[in-house]
Amino acid sequence: MTENSNEKNTRTAFGVKILSSQHKEIRHLKRHEDAPSIHGNKFWGSSYLLMDFLQNNPPAEGYKVLELGCGWGLAGIHCAKFYQSNVIAVDADGAVFPYLQLHAKHNDVTIETWEQRFEDIDPQQLADIDMIIASDVCFWDELAEALYQLIKRACKAGVSRIVVTDPERPPFFDLANRCMDEFYGELFQWDVDEPRRASGCLLLIENA
Ligand SMILES: C[S@@+](CC[C@H](N)C(=O)[O-])C[C@H]1O[C@@H](n2cnc3c(N)ncnc32)[C@H](O)[C@@H]1O
Repeated sequence: MTENSNEKNTRTAFGVKILSSQHKEIRHLKRHEDAPSIHGNKFWGSSYLLMDFLQNNPPAEGYKVLELGCGWGLAGIHCAKFYQSNVIAVDADGAVFPYLQLHAKHNDVTIETWEQRFEDIDPQQLADIDMIIASDVCFWDELAEALYQLIKRACKAGVSRIVVTDPERPPFFDLANRCMDEFYGELFQWDVDEPRRASGCLLLIENA
């Protein structure tokens, strides 16, 4: 799943090129841009769980994919690169986008971004979305409620698949339990060993 790249301070994970914190372009951003302030300051382990799921359950080519709480956007970049997805990456914190766009550039993909809170994504924006993905976005109680309401809007709007991974934080289980009751969601234990060990849970909603 992972390999060291010949290029200095880079590696690949699930086929996506990742720049390390020592890479000169990351160091440049850290010096010249605002720092992300809602934990979107790196790639989190749950994004590896999400890419592992996607690799084993690839979306149809050309799907319109919304990545919620994208941070640096690794899973969305994976979708754009390998499944030709049209990806929109959403985050409340605009400071994450320079890091996302830097990685998009290095992976030769284009990602649209929306600086928006979960609470403010409306049904019209969800109308032509095929799949929603998210990793490690449910870490406060109020996020569980905001995400539940967003998933409810998404199911109503006809989004066909929703996948959320998490390192098993309590608010995520609140969200997952509600989604299993209301939207026939399924909860799976999910682990990966490479490129680093990550474990957690995966919530899958098939809204067909
Ligand atoms: C722990 S990071 C995870 C980032 C990325 N998904 C990953 O796995 O590497 C959580 C992300 O959710 C974003 N976020 C937190 N609350 C949000 C909200 N209410 N609406 C939209 N994004 C939010 C943060 O800015 C941050 O980028």
